[in-house]
Amino acid sequence: MAVGRHIRFLKEYVSEPNVVGAVAPSSQFLAAALCVPFQNHQGGCRVLEVGAGTGAVTRYLGTIIGQEDELDICEIQPEFIKVLKQDILTHPNFADAVATKRVKLLPHPVQDIEGEDKYDFVISGLPLTAFALRDVHDVFKVIRRCLKPSGVLSYFEYVGFRAMSSTFAVGSRRKRVRHVSAYLDRKIRNFQINSKTVLRNVMPARTRYFKFNGT
Ligand SMILES: C[S@@+](CC[C@H](N)C(=O)[O-])C[C@H]1O[C@@H](n2cnc3c(N)ncnc32)[C@H](O)[C@@H]1O
Repeated sequence: MAVGRHIRFLKEYVSEPNVVGAVAPSSQFLAAALCVPFQNHQGGCRVLEVGAGTGAVTRYLGTIIGQEDELDICEIQPEFIKVLKQDILTHPNFADAVATKRVKLLPHPVQDIEGEDKYDFVISGLPLTAFALRDVHDVFKVIRRCLKPSGVLSYFEYVGFRAMSSTFAVGSRRKRVRHVSAYLDRKIRNFQINSKTVLRNVMPARTRYFKFNGT
């Protein structure tokens, strides 16, 4: 099962590198780090996972979701949506949440998510560094609108990846990465409340936690 998921992930990366943005799914250690704010919450809450892929983080969410929690899972790639439906949400950990309709798949781009102040936590696996600046901007706009004022966004990036790409990429790619990196640095300065380095992952990663209301 796990090997199959890795192969499907790699296949999708080869066909859509700028959408998938990673050669391997996140490790369980990275998944756990991304879920820390949700795991520490008291009482029922609403969670949005964006960029779920083959469900590395979703699976972890299944082990911590409480009886009053609700989870929306957003993923753009049809192949990954199939894996999430058939392989992840059928796990017994999700049985009660699925039966009571507390888990919902959103099979469309994150940019199309509607509503405001809906979620207590947003957990993102989106490959922001692979996106055009306009898309990164739109993604942050949507996440900020959807999060409650006290809500927390968790996302990750590979350690040193932006610096390396800014140095070694050429032409328009280099320009794009530099603009995206400067944009992310501004967001980090303004909104990051904490961060954590996770070494046990295919590439070491840094999880970042944001609060947009600054408190
Ligand atoms: C780096 S993978 C992360 C997968 C998984 N969360 C993990 O940690 O292994 C990024 C995922 O984001 C999805 N994605 C990319 N752009 C998206 C968008 N605009 N809306 C929703 N999902 C998107 C990709 O299809 C891919 O599954």
